[in-house]
Amino acid sequence: MKALILSGGKGTRLRPLTYTGAKQLVPVANQPILWYGIISIVATGIRDIGIVISPETGEEVKSKTGDGSRFGAKITYILQEEAAGLAHAVKVAQPFLQDSPFVMYLGDNLIQSDLIQFLEAFQSQQLDALILLRPVSNPSAFGVAKVDANGRVLQLIEKPRNPPSNLALVGIYFFANSIHRAIAQIQPSARGELEITDAIQNLIDQKKHVEASQLQGWWLDTGKKDDLLEANRIILDTCLTSNLQGTVDERSQVIGRVQIDPGTQVINCTIRGPVIIGKDCYLENCFIGPYSSIADGVTLIDADLEHSVILQGAKVIGVHQRIVDSVIGQRAHLGQAPRRPKALRFMIGDDSQVDLV
Ligand code: TTP
Repeated sequence: MKALILSGGKGTRLRPLTYTGAKQLVPVANQPILWYGIISIVATGIRDIGIVISPETGEEVKSKTGDGSRFGAKITYILQEEAAGLAHAVKVAQPFLQDSPFVMYLGDNLIQSDLIQFLEAFQSQQLDALILLRPVSNPSAFGVAKVDANGRVLQLIEKPRNPPSNLALVGIYFFANSIHRAIAQIQPSARGELEITDAIQNLIDQKKHVEASQLQGWWLDTGKKDDLLEANRIILDTCLTSNLQGTVDERSQVIGRVQIDPGTQVINCTIRGPVIIGKDCYLENCFIGPYSSIADGVTLIDADLEHSVILQGAKVIGVHQRIVDSVIGQRAHLGQAPRRPKALRFMIGDDSQVDLV
């Protein structure tokens, strides 16, 4: 059994962050999203992992994630020259996958459940494909499945206008090698991509054995800002333990579960967990509220924030209104200029979003 993680793609919905970096490397609770997938795959005992990368962000994914030894895995990187669809990524990865069955994991997805129960169901029933489904309130935004009473999949439709059910396809799939023949038989969709839903539909049409399991617990596709913040909230809520290694002065108050990494200085601040703060940060006169993740090397002075993600090297200085539900990119500066007239002055990258009151 092998694993294939898809970490290419365009990431248009997470612009501007994805102009300068891979969306799968955006941190959730200060750890790249991609790594949660690797860790959960390794927990099933699968060690042989292929990661599909794009020409734009592949080098960064490679240099950050390495050869897999830090996870107890062996990682092979597979270059997909263009983001031509999930089934196209499998096609490109065939020399790595060979005839092995595999779990395919979208690198920007996170799930609460362990994978082992699904792997066992896939292996014990010798399925051609096992897909995971989860009820959602807006099925039209997803690939949707129609299943019979026994969980056998009858039909898959990508982003249907009239959804046949509220069961969305989660970005984790188990495939036997028969998927390669199915992919060879499909054509690009209207949006020009080789769709994995079409390949699975092809398996169903060929009377292959395709089943679905319903996912319990949360599932997050972190491809958009609000989903990223929600993933951050859930991971901090469920996984964070207190660990204060930085320096916190006696005027500061640290309440609840808070992690502060070495080299970070906290001066006259109130920090109300769950909050994670990376290394070599400088915080002075701040309130840091629940569900905030602050990456390494961040400077926060006279700032007040909660439910936000601040990326590496960003600076927020002298912003007296509370910052909420925000993602602030690497090395971004947010501050007050002493210049008159008193006014807002911006230098904002393409596709940024600023909501003023
Ligand atoms: P998507 O989020 O569906 O696509 P995208 O990354 O192009 O994002 P957007 O819609 O915002 O432009 O992709 C799901 C995952 O699969 C994601 O981790 C990227 C990866 N992927 C590939 O590796 N190759 C591909 O050809 C595509 C389409 C996606």
